[in-house]
Amino acid sequence: MAKFKLGIIVGSNRRESINRKLAQALVRLGGAAFEAKFIRIDDLPMYNQDNEQPLPAAVARFKAEVEASDALLFATPEHNRSIPAVLKNAIDWGGRPYGKSSWPGRPAAIIGTSGGAISTAVAQQHLRAVLGNQGLHVMGGEAYIQFKPDLIDSESNVPDDNVRKFLKNFIDQFAAFGGRFAPAQKQAAA
Ligand SMILES: Cc1cc2nc3c(=O)[nH]c(=O)nc-3n(C[C@H](O)[C@H](O)[C@H](O)COP(=O)(O)O)c2cc1C
Repeated sequence: MAKFKLGIIVGSNRRESINRKLAQALVRLGGAAFEAKFIRIDDLPMYNQDNEQPLPAAVARFKAEVEASDALLFATPEHNRSIPAVLKNAIDWGGRPYGKSSWPGRPAAIIGTSGGAISTAVAQQHLRAVLGNQGLHVMGGEAYIQFKPDLIDSESNVPDDNVRKFLKNFIDQFAAFGGRFAPAQKQAAA
């Protein structure tokens, strides 16, 4: 049977992004449950309705990768108590042109990390609202991970037992949640 395809969108264009490290740790914890693909957003131009036809090559590639995913994991930083502009830009492109959105009906989960005490909670609430507006099915629950320098090692392992168990539970729950939608999506596309 074909593996469940998990598309991962990191809401950061930073080379050493701690949210990308968190997503890599989740992929490791998920083991063989899915085939993971990180979907780039840092090469997307700034959204402009004048540039929708034809779509810029990077946007066409981004939309195709979203549409090839059975489920989408968003790992995002918080910028000024909201989602980073680079992530909002990607979501805006994904929803265009009108009538050709790549988002509706896709299962999604949200997680994020920052050094702050409430570690991305407000950004995640904003993201949940935007994804709901775009017609994604967002998994319930909360995953606000406070980043510490030793949270994730250089091989994407999570040394702390409690954090590792929490993240493992999160990704297993998401694999089960996403799997419930995947067959319907595949049938619809057939
Ligand atoms: C413009 C800007 C705004 C930020 N605002 C917040 C914030 O509202 N809350 C927070 O917890 N961290 C905030 N930070 C700190 C980020 O959490 C930190 O830069 C983190 O490394 C971002 O994750 P990344 O490494 O995945 O890009 C902000 C950082 C920047 C550059």
